[in-house]
Amino acid sequence: MAAEKRKRNSSVIVGLDVGTTKICAIAGEVTEDGIDILSVSSHPSNGLRKGVVIDIEATANSIKKTISDVEEQTGISVREVYVGIAGSHIKSFSSYGAVGIKGREVTSEDVERAIDSASAVYVPLDREILHVLPTDFILDGQDGIKDPVGMAGVRLEVKVYIVTGAVASVQNLLKCCERAGLDVVDIVLQPLASAEATLNNDERDMGIALVDIGGGTTDIAIYREGWLRHTAVLGIGGNHFTNDISVGLRLPFNEAERVKKRYGSIVPEIDNAEVDVVAIDGQVRGIPRKYITEILQPRCEELLELVRQEIHAVHNNGIAVSGVVLTGGSSLLSGFDRMAEAILSMPVRIGYPHLSHQNFSGDGHGMHVLKGEFNNPMYATGIGLVLYGIGSIMPSERGGFSSDLFSRVLNKMTGWFKKIAGRR
Ligand SMILES: Nc1ncnc2c1ncn2[C@@H]1O[C@H](COP(=O)(O)OP(=O)(O)OP(=O)(O)O)[C@@H](O)[C@H]1O
Ligand SMILES: [Mg+2]
Repeated sequence: MAAEKRKRNSSVIVGLDVGTTKICAIAGEVTEDGIDILSVSSHPSNGLRKGVVIDIEATANSIKKTISDVEEQTGISVREVYVGIAGSHIKSFSSYGAVGIKGREVTSEDVERAIDSASAVYVPLDREILHVLPTDFILDGQDGIKDPVGMAGVRLEVKVYIVTGAVASVQNLLKCCERAGLDVVDIVLQPLASAEATLNNDERDMGIALVDIGGGTTDIAIYREGWLRHTAVLGIGGNHFTNDISVGLRLPFNEAERVKKRYGSIVPEIDNAEVDVVAIDGQVRGIPRKYITEILQPRCEELLELVRQEIHAVHNNGIAVSGVVLTGGSSLLSGFDRMAEAILSMPVRIGYPHLSHQNFSGDGHGMHVLKGEFNNPMYATGIGLVLYGIGSIMPSERGGFSSDLFSRVLNKMTGWFKKIAGRR
């Protein structure tokens, strides 16, 4: 695409998912009918380990290639992106704040003051607050209030969930984007973005665990009564499954990856057929497919047992979860959902990313599903980042990140983020 043809288009939002196995950029545009996805592009990622940047140069190069594909496909010059963050440096906790109401009814300033008072907590110097998300408003002792603005009362209390990240990890991610010539408009916790692209409002209300099983990590986000209640990062992902196959069958990593995607299954009643694999010496040999299943099963059980423990711990704190949505590339492993249903003892579905109408019209039901190869759980985070970005430029619309209250809270987030960017 000739440079002169390129233009900047402010209604186009680009989500950048910097994952352990792939860097993916998705450009979306708001139209009268909803959201149009203009381009999805993805390149292998070589500079991350377990969701955290360990090689800035390699990551910046992959980002450059991915963004340049988006520019080719759309003819738009991309300068700004919404980027996702994850990794085991993410730590979260609950907090509480309260304020007196100055006027007769609660205003958005009162809500902000209440959230500010809940955010005034000690955070070590090497950590930054990423998100401050309300989990309940209590007005004059009455709890369970979703949006108190406009209600009459004298004392507003708020319970919040505070997500923090290591300053160094955040800065390294920002540096990669900067080296690729990009401005980061905002940073979003990856499982929040994935949840935005895969969950519906009913699920968030009734209590749901979103489990994003990527290449390096498994990220969990638990919702109940519409609010995020808990997040966790588990240090197991698809690379561990591949590694187990590589060691167990003595195959090079890339061949083990191919074999996993093509023949991998954890359904116990798999047939006894032989499959061809290419050994380290280049020789092709046949192995019974059930060997692959036998290698994968214990690792998947281990991961699901850790997920079960997280859900159980949250349940013990009075937050009931009634279902699970699996997403991320590794959720495609054949039989994973069935094994999850058995171990977690609750309904499980695979979360394919959708472009939810509820972000626009308020009817809350229509959903666009992505077509072709991009209708894949691997793209949930990237699509969620686009939805998040659109939500933050359309603050008056209802639903998900786009609701008034979320916009106000997320606008505050941009504040911390600019602060970090300024410190570099
Ligand atoms: N059909 C499939 N069967 C099994 N595993 C699959 C399949 N397709 C993709 N995967 C696995 O999904 C993983 C990549 O998923 P994803 O793109 O969600 O991860 P990521 O975002 O790069 O990593 P992370 O989120 O952990 O940083 C890889 O380990 C890959 O092997
Ligand atoms: Mg991911």
